[in-house]
Amino acid sequence: MKSIDFVVARDDLQQCKSIETQLPDGAALPSDALLIRIDRFAFTANNITYAVFGDELKYWQLFPAPQNFGNIPVWGFGEVIASKHSGVAEGERLFGYFPMATHLVIEASEVSKQGLRDAATHRQSVAPVYNAYARITGDPAFAGRQGDYQALLRPLFMLSFLVDDYLAENAFYGARSVMLSSASSKTAFGLAHLLHGRADLKVIGLTSAANADFVKSLGCYHEVVTYDRVTSLPANSPVAFVDMAGNSSLREALHRHFGDQMKYSGRIGLTHRSSSPDEPELPGAKPRWFFAPDQIRKRAKEWGPGGVDKRFGVAWSGFAPTLDRRLKVIEGRGLAAAKQIYLDTLNGRIPPDQGNMLSLAE
Ligand SMILES: NC(=O)c1ccc[n+]([C@@H]2O[C@H](COP(=O)([O-])OP(=O)(O)OC[C@H]3O[C@@H](n4cnc5c(N)ncnc54)[C@H](OP(=O)(O)O)[C@@H]3O)[C@@H](O)[C@H]2O)c1
Repeated sequence: MKSIDFVVARDDLQQCKSIETQLPDGAALPSDALLIRIDRFAFTANNITYAVFGDELKYWQLFPAPQNFGNIPVWGFGEVIASKHSGVAEGERLFGYFPMATHLVIEASEVSKQGLRDAATHRQSVAPVYNAYARITGDPAFAGRQGDYQALLRPLFMLSFLVDDYLAENAFYGARSVMLSSASSKTAFGLAHLLHGRADLKVIGLTSAANADFVKSLGCYHEVVTYDRVTSLPANSPVAFVDMAGNSSLREALHRHFGDQMKYSGRIGLTHRSSSPDEPELPGAKPRWFFAPDQIRKRAKEWGPGGVDKRFGVAWSGFAPTLDRRLKVIEGRGLAAAKQIYLDTLNGRIPPDQGNMLSLAE
């Protein structure tokens, strides 16, 4: 049996191709191995970030590809089609981190009622969340459209949840307004949804002209400003900036405009892929990367076992019901569809209300 993998050139993400790799026969799998058929996965700008940071953050190590190529990790669903682990049956459904491929072999370990891990050595150099699989057979929260929302948004909304919590814990560094760049992105509007529920805080969405109407329609920003008009914002009260766009010129313009009123400047993403390696010293709070695992570790300690999951579950159950009116899920089957969605995402051609669910199988 063969697996089809979609791989991209590490030093030129516009170049991509499919490759076939031979899969072991079910009977020949090593002990504890699972052969998984990957059924559906989500694809957003966040996956492009995994590729951009493939070397630096070791994402390329997770799903090995031929030399100079990388397989971009995605969040999605798979079914166990052969199992050499006594605790995992064929036919089980799993949710987790997969390659863009039709199949994956993992080495099941730490199997519990809720989930399991891939113990493969090459997957141990990243945060534990990237080699954990949830066992979701028969769970309605992971079926149908709700399942699509989990794959498309749940990993992103964890970041939204952590930034909201971090800012609130720090009393918003004294800011009365929070500005979010790439306000149309799923990570940003998840965060805006949470911030909007906080008293006495103004949530400002910064976006491109083409996406301004969508951002207004979301209903979770008090004000929407296009990138060419950011210096029209009043600069006389304290603000915080949460940056999903990673655009150096935009960041510089905002810092120069707000000066010392810029109380927090957190870097989250790089949807615009316009970061200059030599950014000048800027007025206001020093821009720094928000590192989600630090906040999770801190809260796990303070809130005790299950505390983060419980609070996140409450936040998610307030957010998920809003998605039917905010997103249209598009399904792409087969290699040609995956390639098109990949290139459209890479080049910023996906409408912001679109959520892509892909499968490499025809
Ligand atoms: N640090 C973390 O742990 C973490 C976790 C989650 C997400 N993130 C980051 O947050 C960002 C948003 O991710 P997402 O998956 O939520 O994004 P998404 O929903 O796919 O965002 C799409 C939006 O991003 C902007 N965009 C995307 N590609 C572009 C391009 N090529 N050129 C210009 N603009 C482009 C556009 O917004 P505008 O027109 O509004 O600019 C577009 O509407 C990503 O950079 C992601 O890596 C980081």
